[in-house]
Amino acid sequence: NVLILDFGSQYTQLIARRVRELNIFCEIFPYNKIPEDLSSFKATILSGSPFSVRAEDAPHPDLSQIRGKMPLLAVCYGAQYLAHFDGGEVAPSNIREYGRANLSFVDDHDPFFEEVALNSQVWMSHSDTIKKLPTNGVRLASTKDVENAAYRIEGEKTYAIQFHPEVYHSTDGKQMLENFLVRIAEVPQNFTPNAFVEEIVAELQEKIKGDKVVLGLSGGVDSTVAAVLLNKAIGKNLYCIFVNNGLLRKNEFQNVLDQYKGMGLNVKGVDAADRFLDQLAGIEEPEAKRKAIGRVFIEVFDDEAHRIEDVKWLAQGTIYPDVIESISVKGPSATIKSHHNVGGLPDFMKLKIVEPLRMLFKDEVRRVGATLGIDPELLGRHPFPGPGLSIRILGDITKEKVRILQEVDAIFIEGLKSHGLYDQVWQAGAILLPVNSVGVMGDERTYEKVVALRAVESTDGMTADWVHLPYDFLMKISNEIINKVKGVNRVVYDISSKPPATIEWE
Ligand code: XMP
Repeated sequence: NVLILDFGSQYTQLIARRVRELNIFCEIFPYNKIPEDLSSFKATILSGSPFSVRAEDAPHPDLSQIRGKMPLLAVCYGAQYLAHFDGGEVAPSNIREYGRANLSFVDDHDPFFEEVALNSQVWMSHSDTIKKLPTNGVRLASTKDVENAAYRIEGEKTYAIQFHPEVYHSTDGKQMLENFLVRIAEVPQNFTPNAFVEEIVAELQEKIKGDKVVLGLSGGVDSTVAAVLLNKAIGKNLYCIFVNNGLLRKNEFQNVLDQYKGMGLNVKGVDAADRFLDQLAGIEEPEAKRKAIGRVFIEVFDDEAHRIEDVKWLAQGTIYPDVIESISVKGPSATIKSHHNVGGLPDFMKLKIVEPLRMLFKDEVRRVGATLGIDPELLGRHPFPGPGLSIRILGDITKEKVRILQEVDAIFIEGLKSHGLYDQVWQAGAILLPVNSVGVMGDERTYEKVVALRAVESTDGMTADWVHLPYDFLMKISNEIINKVKGVNRVVYDISSKPPATIEWE
């Protein structure tokens, strides 16, 4: 297990992902919440930071339980931190040190640089520079502009680097992380999907014992993998609930429910479409829609959870990025739980919480899912928002609008699949605009709805770019939609990136 101390760098999660790619388990902690018991950690990595070590309010944690007691790798801010407080000197740099650089000197006898090219490309991102190494510091590498690009501390397994090995532009970055963690720190590479499954199943059995657990399935990857893991651990004591809010994709409720049953899950499908649509009637404002859906979902789920006698646990498909966000240096973002505060907590939210995936990144959830034998098609599904089609129907929602959008969406998604484009796209869907436009069909003039198609590339939804779908494909899909879906006479394609636009239109 490796400890990553976060000083607020935008790259901290990337460090964790690179370490995990080496099949080494690691956990991120904010610099001001260092765990008291460090006995399970075999090495520590210090992240970068937006701060200057010379600033009064910069992170200055006490590392006395770490430094010299276990192998330590200090990245960027971390490297400056060690220098600044231990006899070295950190000062503003005269030249901008940002972007690609090449190593110009490397101590190739040091195991840290084993199998690293002598002029390897590295990624710099800092405005301070280390003018003088700390006490017992030994220079290991330089670039043209940065003399002290890497150093170690004599007599310790402490290494420090000014550049960012976690960023892909650092060509040998992963090799350096491997050199530090495997060759120098001798951390075992035993974190594999199989090992995770084995360990978490035992842990869940130990924790839950003979209790009953309730879990809300959404059709998405996270809740599905969480359910299959729990099912493996506790079998029929897992009660899954899959709610139809009437805003799912066409035929999705029945198809996914059948799929869940086929996987041996103890699942109850609850068709609450009318209840949701009743409560949504006349609501136009996007946040009001989200709140209404959140409220009804909680009511429906609470009713169902009450039917399970003596249930003790609520399982959730929370994954590691959510956990990091909630404990981050900056603190949880203020908006996350707004709707949970309305009118006190429903009973099911007073249950004990179990989150089998809380230590995994999304790609790891998929790999665990594959190990568990879950259908690759299910694991490769695009993300779909909780409020479903409601936020893709601009303005108020009616049954007829949902029907139109479901038809359009199905043609688009099926088309992506049959043309081999689905897996190149991170998320796709259709939007029903509150606009009628004039068209002509046969001899008749029509005045019908406009739909927009949206397909984006992204890694985490935070930024996104529109996908350059082939014109021929767009032409076919547009024709098919207008010919087959009554009520639509015009199709447009959204060519906005995020930022400044968002993925959803509401
Ligand atoms: P935006 O529109 O903010 O979307 O660029 C980013 C990602 O978040 C999804 N999204 C939601 N997911 N509830 C959800 O569960 C919501 O209210 C919601 N709004 C947006 C969106 O589909 C995209 O993947």
